[in-house]
Amino acid sequence: MTVYNEQTSQYIQNLFVRQDPPLQLAWDDTLKKGLPAISVKPEEGRFLQFLVRACCAKKAVEIGTLGGYSGIWIARGLPPGGKLFTLEKEPRHAAVAREHFTAADLDGRVEIRLGNAHQLLNGLTPEAPFDFVFIDAEKEGYPAYLDWALENVRLGGVIAIHNAFRKGSVIGLVENDEYTEAMRRFNQRFASEPRLLSTIFPAGDGTLIGVKVA
Ligand code: SAH
Ligand code: DHB
Ligand code: MG
Repeated sequence: MTVYNEQTSQYIQNLFVRQDPPLQLAWDDTLKKGLPAISVKPEEGRFLQFLVRACCAKKAVEIGTLGGYSGIWIARGLPPGGKLFTLEKEPRHAAVAREHFTAADLDGRVEIRLGNAHQLLNGLTPEAPFDFVFIDAEKEGYPAYLDWALENVRLGGVIAIHNAFRKGSVIGLVENDEYTEAMRRFNQRFASEPRLLSTIFPAGDGTLIGVKVA
């Protein structure tokens, strides 16, 4: 029998997720300001922080900032002097995220770059290699984002990608939407990528995770 459900999610949160005021602000205020309610869940954020710390990341990239909720978790896994570049195409989202990073005292550690991530990534390549990349923007872009991450993450670095389950549709729990088939194909590609040792962390909407092994 499987025990993963809303109650186990709550149990994990109660034990391991302390949402201090900056995290609570980023969560609440993102909704209050009318940005979409698609931030990672608290226990997914905690997992991102864990991954960043576990691979001793100093330089990280996030594709898809929104209100900065996941970015705060990622930045809090970095050591002093570490750096998160987070890419966002909507000026309004970037402005809201900036407030939240400031409130979390992370201005020195987080740089928001505004624009289409596909173009912005070219400008980040000179800063490579990176230790950690989190992909959470438009799903059509995932194949190209993964290509970039595979080229620009060091051996032993980690690539994490949100929405592997696409709300449950990829495994037939709910009806397919326009991205379901693409996400299935993407998950298949990720699973068979020889440069990665990979799996899915199943909390929330599922996070593909791979450590670069070749
Ligand atoms: N990681 C965030 C949620 C990101 S939601 C969190 O968990 O807190 C996806 C974000 O990606 C949105 O803010 C959207 O504007 C942005 N986005 C979508 N397509 C993009 C693109 N091509 N380049 C940059 N950002 C993009
Ligand atoms: C949706 C959720 C996400 O986490 C995301 O990155 C994009 C879209 C959604 O529920 O539509
Ligand atoms: Mg997402």
